[in-house]
Amino acid sequence: MRVTDTSDQWWKIAVIYCLDVETFYDSDGDGIGDLGGLAERVDYLAELGVTCLWLMPFYPTPDRDDGYDVTDLYGVDHRLGTHGQLVEVIRTANDRGIRVIADVVINHTSDQHPWFKAARRSKDNRYRDWYVWRADAPPDTSDQVVFPDREDSIWEKDPRTGEWYLHHFYRYQPDLNVANQAVRDEIARTMGFWLELGLDGFRVDAVPFFIDDVETAAADPGRPDVPADPHQYLRDLRAFVNRRKGNAILLGEVNLPHRDQKKFFGGNAADELHMMFDFITMQNLYLSLARGDVRPLAKALRQRPAIQPSCQWATFVRNHDELTLDKLTDAQRQEVFDAFGPEPEMQIYGRGLKRRLPGMLDGDPRRLRLVYALLFSLPGTPTIFYGEELGMGEDLAQEGRMAVRTPMQWTSGRNGGFSTAPPRKLVSPVVEGGYGPAHVNAAQQRRDPDSLWSFIRGLIAAYRSCPELGWGTFEVLPQPDHAVLAHRSAWEDAAVIAVHNLGAEPTEVDLTVADREVLLVDLLQPGEERTDDRGRVTLALDGYGYRWLRVHVGDDARLP
Ligand code: GLC
Repeated sequence: MRVTDTSDQWWKIAVIYCLDVETFYDSDGDGIGDLGGLAERVDYLAELGVTCLWLMPFYPTPDRDDGYDVTDLYGVDHRLGTHGQLVEVIRTANDRGIRVIADVVINHTSDQHPWFKAARRSKDNRYRDWYVWRADAPPDTSDQVVFPDREDSIWEKDPRTGEWYLHHFYRYQPDLNVANQAVRDEIARTMGFWLELGLDGFRVDAVPFFIDDVETAAADPGRPDVPADPHQYLRDLRAFVNRRKGNAILLGEVNLPHRDQKKFFGGNAADELHMMFDFITMQNLYLSLARGDVRPLAKALRQRPAIQPSCQWATFVRNHDELTLDKLTDAQRQEVFDAFGPEPEMQIYGRGLKRRLPGMLDGDPRRLRLVYALLFSLPGTPTIFYGEELGMGEDLAQEGRMAVRTPMQWTSGRNGGFSTAPPRKLVSPVVEGGYGPAHVNAAQQRRDPDSLWSFIRGLIAAYRSCPELGWGTFEVLPQPDHAVLAHRSAWEDAAVIAVHNLGAEPTEVDLTVADREVLLVDLLQPGEERTDDRGRVTLALDGYGYRWLRVHVGDDARLP
């Protein structure tokens, strides 16, 4: 393993930035963000330092689930622009050192997709078997629905043929029959198409749901065409994607316990998903923040299964959905609710929060910085959601998950500089109040060296200079203070030590970081420390303080 290998598996130390084209920047004044607007703002992303852009669905859609209900897997929503403009975005991003990936929704389509419209017309239609049907009345499946505020069954009766179709999500998102070879072929064809247009991979939506569907079909003796091992599908998909494009990735949404996630990486063969979001660590991070006690987080990190070098975790503190706390116990979830979202309108689906991070932390800049320093120091590839770099807030008046999908705040001007359209024509209202554009905007923060934006930019630069964090082996360092997480990521001859204080009180941490005297160089601010001749050092931390230190041993080739 050499530093030069890091360029092939670029995603092991990428900084991923997720955005929805329709809420990012509107270049033609119709109130809807568009690809032309995104192209204008690629330099902003480059300046921040992100290296991978994740585009939420940009496909044609009736937009009942914010684009996750697709009517043409090969298309570009005309409100956002054209294929040509998407290519321009990709080329402009690539030129600035940014790769582009996009959501691919394999589990379902919109019920307005021509395949489903055909499928529901008759039982003998050639698209009938592209979806999942049952002839007999379904049992109670209310415990399996993803959106319990809207659905109470994962089966919907279709009056025309009198049969029920499967939909794990909303009833207008019928599940594709991924067990059907023709469906799998067509999905691969669409992904091949987008790779050809320049994408470097996909964020694969709702993975366990379609793998489950394959598993159910495989159990049916009448279906000898279905792979007996449903994970064969992910193996085939990774092989296909990497045959078409060697460095393209599949970044899966798999919100399952760690032990189950290992399977979706392909176990030790590492031949399924390249990357997966680490929902478990994220949820335990919030529990730790609520308690001011790092033990839940440290436990989650320790219990993460070891993965092969050709796989990676994507770490995050917020995404475009509800902040799900579904894997905590009821009592733990309640603790997080009490700390960060006590009001019913802040909560959603009985399992999550509608808020963005700054509101949860009462806007305390010390805590915000602490959380992002911690996020970027964790082993994995950090992923941020647009506006996090500014500390944007949410709009609780918006329906469900739309609370955090408000327009990007560029300036203090009208519509936060997002669009010149009259406010009533905007795709979503701009956040008002203390987190509104008058107080939180990119133009002002870019010029202010003390802003959150400048801080995140510095963190990104520091992260990018520490391949240990993406590639290394991780270890929690023993020390007695439960408010402090001390950890080390080591790779080749180098290591980064990070200490983060979740408590409000200043503290001192005694650590043993080597077996001899070493120099520790501060990576986030000027400064250095030297251990004693047994590698011991005492580090002082402010309340909510943090430090990242590189250990220099011997004649390490790295620039001190
Ligand atoms: C995923 C997406 C979510 C979407 C759902 C259905 O969970 O993250 O936004 O609603 O899939 O596609």
